Amino acid sequence: MIEQKMIEEILIPENQIKKRVEQLGEQISHDYQGKELFCIGVLRGAIVFLADLARNIKVPMVIDFISISSYGISTESSGVVRILKDLDENIENKDVLIVEDIIDTGLTLDYLLRMLQSRKPASLKVCTLLNKKERKKIKIPIDYCGFDIPDKFVVGYGLDFNGLYRNIPYILVLKPEYYSNELTD
Ligand code: IMP
Ligand code: MG
Repeated sequence: MIEQKMIEEILIPENQIKKRVEQLGEQISHDYQGKELFCIGVLRGAIVFLADLARNIKVPMVIDFISISSYGISTESSGVVRILKDLDENIENKDVLIVEDIIDTGLTLDYLLRMLQSRKPASLKVCTLLNKKERKKIKIPIDYCGFDIPDKFVVGYGLDFNGLYRNIPYILVLKPEYYSNELTD
């Protein structure tokens, strides 16, 4: 799946991810008791996390997807977001949970939150597997977070570099010489 020499460090092994995803599922199931949850997976990075999380959520739930892309791809997220694929369903009066792979500067999510809020959901919360806390450029309300991680470029478990490595079942830090700080979806 990946050459050993490209790996700087395994940041979060498979068993730790599994345990944390189970905890998040329990917490979400508890918080949404008696409700129907409308989960939005942010393509493509969130698919692996969402697939595992969904199987640990015990309340009725609908899964929909949105695909967005940051403008000005170069090195930093600009916060100007383009919708590549919108939701299939209407979220008005629904209890919506956005599921993300990683929040870095927070600019992408800030835009997404404002856009979805304008569609008048009953509630709108955020669940992210990873959070690069020290990189925040904007205050983002994160309701559920798997792991706070340092400012390092990570791949695996849905996260990619140039489209690759999403299928690796754990989260690892790539050696800097193998990436150039690019942003993808
Ligand atoms: P933000 O607008 O800076 O929060 O950008 C978040 C997006 O940048 C994520 O959804 C990812 O697609 C991408 N991203 C940020 N950091 C990483 C990383 O370490 N690995 C892979 N993708 C990342
Ligand atoms: Mg993403």
